[in-house]
Amino acid sequence: MGKNHELLAGAGVTLLLLVLLMSMVNSGDSIGANWGTQASHPLPPATVVKLLRDNGIQKVKLFDAEAPVLFAFRGSGIEVMVGIPNDMLATLSTSVDAAERWVEKNVSAHISSNSVLIKYVAVGNEPFLSTYNGTFLSSTLPALQNIQAALIKAGLGGRVKVTVPLNADVYESSTQQPSTGDFRANVKDVMVQIVDFLSRNEAPFTVNIYPFISLYNDPNFPVDYAFFDGYSSPIEDNGRTYTNVFDANYDTLVWALQKNGYGNMTIIVGEIGWPTDGDRNANIGYAQRFNQGVMRHLGKGTPMRPGPMDAYLFSLVDEDAKSIQPGNFERHWGVFNFDGTVKYNLSLGSSNRGLVEASNIKYFPERWCVLSPTASLDDPQLVPSVEYACSHADCTSLGFGSSCADLDPRGNVSYAFNSYYQKSDQQETACKFPNLSVITTTDPSRGMCRFRRMFQEPGKGNGGFLLEPIGILLQMLVFMLAFL
Ligand SMILES: *[C@@H]1O[C@H](CO)[C@@H](O)[C@H](O)[C@H]1NC(C)=O
Ligand SMILES: *[C@@H]1O[C@H](CO)[C@@H](O)[C@H](O)[C@H]1NC(C)=O
Ligand SMILES: *[C@@H]1O[C@H](CO)[C@@H](O)[C@H](O)[C@H]1NC(C)=O
Ligand SMILES: *[C@@H]1O[C@H](CO)[C@@H](O)[C@H](O)[C@H]1NC(C)=O
Ligand SMILES: *[C@@H]1O[C@H](CO)[C@@H](O)[C@H](O)[C@H]1NC(C)=O
Ligand SMILES: *[C@@H]1O[C@H](CO)[C@@H](O)[C@H](O)[C@H]1NC(C)=O
Repeated sequence: MGKNHELLAGAGVTLLLLVLLMSMVNSGDSIGANWGTQASHPLPPATVVKLLRDNGIQKVKLFDAEAPVLFAFRGSGIEVMVGIPNDMLATLSTSVDAAERWVEKNVSAHISSNSVLIKYVAVGNEPFLSTYNGTFLSSTLPALQNIQAALIKAGLGGRVKVTVPLNADVYESSTQQPSTGDFRANVKDVMVQIVDFLSRNEAPFTVNIYPFISLYNDPNFPVDYAFFDGYSSPIEDNGRTYTNVFDANYDTLVWALQKNGYGNMTIIVGEIGWPTDGDRNANIGYAQRFNQGVMRHLGKGTPMRPGPMDAYLFSLVDEDAKSIQPGNFERHWGVFNFDGTVKYNLSLGSSNRGLVEASNIKYFPERWCVLSPTASLDDPQLVPSVEYACSHADCTSLGFGSSCADLDPRGNVSYAFNSYYQKSDQQETACKFPNLSVITTTDPSRGMCRFRRMFQEPGKGNGGFLLEPIGILLQMLVFMLAFL
């Protein structure tokens, strides 16, 4: 029995090593995923790590470097890009000391516990977006330089690469031909300096490309050109043919790099995806068509850069607390719903199986808050109540072209009330709109319009969940001991 056990354990370890090795070899052209946590009910890190593994996603891109999140990736074999939020750039640009402390605490510590595979540090997130009015224009490069120096000082220069995820609006083309591409005039100087710095440190250029936004911004944009299934009026460019805007956009960057002397720079697509709600072009059909197209396209590359591409889907899960300043669709980019349930069939790898949903999600009971059948739509409290609910919760599915746009006025009010009630963890006080709201046990969902229930977060309310934080604490303890 003991012998067998040892033998089995040995085989297990070998298998694990093999799987780990294979995942490392493969990670170049397999898809990654962005995981953002701007949600009222973010999934627990351990659940997300399992979700990624169950779906064969071997790379994750984070917007931050939160310790509990990084702990969860220990020993997972998943390659991690950690992020530095824009609001830290100023400090990191002026203080070498701050940069060294950042690297020490948020990279070295996790790597020396020798099980978090941190491969990139993303310095800022789309810092040159025109809506920022140049706020981060002067701090991004110095912050990048200080972080790079700190990585070298920590002995990680060869192992961890810096990069700056940029929106595709840092470059432009004067015609639809990618070959007319160059960096945007008002950021060109700093872009060339950044590219030069990345190049000297053998670091990649990271770009976020959004065909959905092309369609959103321009009602005359040809829909088929946004996808990967062919387009009747392809763009010809010096013998190269473009049938989708993604390739044209990517190659505009290749040309911009080439013109400035960096034609060989490695490119990572930091974000690519399609939202499923909150706009007439944001729906499950289009999202599935686009993302499955991305998966088919990954191995092929573009006319200027044929061959496998490195890309991260945007995004893994919906985030109901994101700013909707760019549009209502902003909270619906997930391939999965906020709770890790599957939105649509997507085949992520060579295997033809669809997506695997998150496991062990404990929902609140089957209770919804709706407009009382006896309430009048003329009640003077109605409008302010709906406004209150929507400003504190998420009503982005109610707008024109969205999943709940077809609700009648009463259904509309119910949706708003329920959204607030669920976001408030079904607290009774959250369904006390004066003479207007009642709790029901019948799911008011209709067709695509889902009246969702939230899940119970670990450590909140329900006693059974207390085990999880204790587990995390134990892990942290073990980690700290290992570090000493
Ligand atoms: C590590 O990253 C976190 C998350 O961004 C940040 O709050 C913290 O200040 C960083 N630590 C240091 C020492 O800079
Ligand atoms: C950018 O500038 C515009 C116009 O001057 C202003 O309305 C906006 O608030 C500014 N945004 C930021 C983030 O500073
Ligand atoms: C860069 O590309 C040129 C051809 O354009 C090639 O000769 C050179 O070896 C490449 N350098 C690297 C470092 O890949
Ligand atoms: C999901 O897609 C795969 C191939 O893309 C297909 O084989 C499978 O039948 C689909 N599953 C469902 C439930 O539609
Ligand atoms: C439903 O509510 C949304 C958001 O408050 C509003 O834009 C829409 O016009 C409403 N629709 C109906 C049918 O009342
Ligand atoms: C609720 O309705 C009752 C009569 O149906 C009325 O007396 C009371 O003032 C109402 N309360 C509020 C807060 O509107």
